[in-house]
Amino acid sequence: MTIREHTTADRTILVTGANRGIGLALVEEALHRGAKRVYAGMRSPVAHPDHRVVPLPLDVTDPAQITAAVQKIDWLDLVINNAGHGTYEDLDQRTALEHHLAVNLYGPYDVTLAVLPLLSRSRGRVINILSLAALASLPVMPAYSISKAAALSLTQAQRALFARHGVRVHAVLTGPTDTDMTRGLDIPKTAPQVVARAIFDGLEADQDDIFPDPMSASLEPDWDDGAIKTLERANAGLLPVAAPLYTNLSYTFVVDQPPEQAFAAINDVRAWWSGQVEGATDALGSEFTYTVPEIHYTKFRITELDPARRVAWHVLDSHLSFTANKEEWTGTTITFDLAERKGGTEVTFTHEGLRPDHECYSVCSNAWGEYISGSLRDLIQTGSGRPNAFEGEEALEAVHA
Ligand SMILES: NC(=O)c1ccc[n+]([C@@H]2O[C@H](COP(=O)([O-])OP(=O)(O)OC[C@H]3O[C@@H](n4cnc5c(N)ncnc54)[C@H](OP(=O)(O)O)[C@@H]3O)[C@@H](O)[C@H]2O)c1
Repeated sequence: MTIREHTTADRTILVTGANRGIGLALVEEALHRGAKRVYAGMRSPVAHPDHRVVPLPLDVTDPAQITAAVQKIDWLDLVINNAGHGTYEDLDQRTALEHHLAVNLYGPYDVTLAVLPLLSRSRGRVINILSLAALASLPVMPAYSISKAAALSLTQAQRALFARHGVRVHAVLTGPTDTDMTRGLDIPKTAPQVVARAIFDGLEADQDDIFPDPMSASLEPDWDDGAIKTLERANAGLLPVAAPLYTNLSYTFVVDQPPEQAFAAINDVRAWWSGQVEGATDALGSEFTYTVPEIHYTKFRITELDPARRVAWHVLDSHLSFTANKEEWTGTTITFDLAERKGGTEVTFTHEGLRPDHECYSVCSNAWGEYISGSLRDLIQTGSGRPNAFEGEEALEAVHA
């Protein structure tokens, strides 16, 4: 599917650094192309005359602001990581390098991670506004260049990794543009409006890497068949080979019931999971324990409870009797993602951090399969789970078989 089939019209877009320069031009261009809503992330929000623009306080180095901003977004087709910091220096101050990395690398990393569940739902897109300095360092802005090179690597990695979520990732390798950032440089520059137009053209033409101005466009003709793209594709091809090293245990099923019903069933843990459960299982921040005597003990904290959308439990402590590493679950996270599907719900369970090379993978995947695809699904569909369908003893038998 190319994005021309679903152009910018009627799309919902988040732009960071949206108050001036290229960011503001991107907002105007998105509106011009018929975007349904544009969330305009800004450090100091200002109103916009177009009612489709929703200003959001968003310093991309502030995790609390990122969380608060994302909570205000209920649907998202595209995030444009545009916010950027660039100063002239000579690499003699570590703090300067750290600040460039905070805004230009960790900023887009954190924002994208926060909106990834939304983008997975919409099979959406990420655009990272990079720079030609990512390819060849600008010695007048070395820390900036380093941060953009790192952000290019981030973009390539996310492009390969997010494909399994159905999310596409684009790089924009921008050349000199006439904004405050390049005010001190007396060189030919392109107007931000021209750059913004070319970025949306590139997106709609489904280009992985977009060259939005005359200087960067000179690299474009040989880019797709060039050595760098060839190597990037070859490296991405290693992902399936290495799948056991990174694939989390996951099950997905679809039920006819609405997300609210699935959400309520997930939180009613005692109704679908065996063992002793102590503590509240339906309150954000609550800690509860799960115990199968002499086999399994886990202490969870509920870290996300987004009604009808997502539940996450982080494992604070664990003990498995049947593995050499007794604490294999500690530090892992269990998530339930809910998406509406034709009036029903798609439920995706993931045990993040539990991978095929872990000792308990075989036993744990069998047990989770029974509880999630069996008991929990029944609970949602019929109102009755089967928490005792797969007892701990069976797990041990499976281990010793
Ligand atoms: N201009 C060029 O020649 C050029 C070339 C290649 C790439 N780029 C890239 O294009 C993007 C936009 O740059 P620009 O030229 O439009 O620069 P700009 O006019 O200096 O604007 C930078 C934008 O980023 C915002 N920003 C800075 N730090 C932030 C933070 N911590 N959190 C949130 N927003 C923050 C600024 O907000 P405040 O107003 O609050 O400071 C402003 O909106 C950047 O990623 C830049 O690296 C620019």
